[in-house]
Amino acid sequence: MHSIIFASSNHHKMHEIQSILKQRIDIKSLKDLHDNQDIPEPYFTLEENALIKAKTIYDRYNQAVFSEDTGLFIDALHGEPGVKSARYALTKKSTLNNVDLVLDLLKNKTHRTAYFKTVICCILPQQTAYFTGYTFGHISSEIKGNSGFGYDGIFTPNTSDKTFAEMDLDSKNSFSHRRQAVDKFAVYLKNVKCID
Ligand code: IMP
Repeated sequence: MHSIIFASSNHHKMHEIQSILKQRIDIKSLKDLHDNQDIPEPYFTLEENALIKAKTIYDRYNQAVFSEDTGLFIDALHGEPGVKSARYALTKKSTLNNVDLVLDLLKNKTHRTAYFKTVICCILPQQTAYFTGYTFGHISSEIKGNSGFGYDGIFTPNTSDKTFAEMDLDSKNSFSHRRQAVDKFAVYLKNVKCID
């Protein structure tokens, strides 16, 4: 196999995944394919949403594909935003953006533990496989740092005193939820002889 489609248009995710896989396989994002059609994410687990994204694109192109779904699970919010991480503020009918809403909901809360979970779903002809990664940490009281994306500015991993947004890409990629899932995915691609 020479290339694989990444069922996403998120250039931050694409950049992180490419820099972890270091060009061992040619990845084409939906943007590269000029595909702007929305993919549904209607389910209650990352696994189900990752599967429907991968399956939708596999059926559209009949080519090897992988998708990725990530959520931030905050203990004091009973696991929210979780699977709703991308549209959290909309689901709460809030005028705040996702990050400001989380900070607002956690105002005055001292118990701020949280984790990121990434699920990758890969569909090759005749086989579907999943790869998972986690980062455990806590939500800071304010946004810190300018790198990264999404909730990076308010999430400090347990192994660091910096938020993900205060780290450079290589530091985040050295241990993140996405890194762990992509590492397992890379071993799989190697076993099925898609990369060296
Ligand atoms: P999705 O996986 O594209 O549905 O993204 C879920 C939400 O989590 C989006 O708001 C992303 O911006 C955010 N997100 C995904 N991965 C990360 C990450 O590594 N750091 C911070 N936020 C993330």
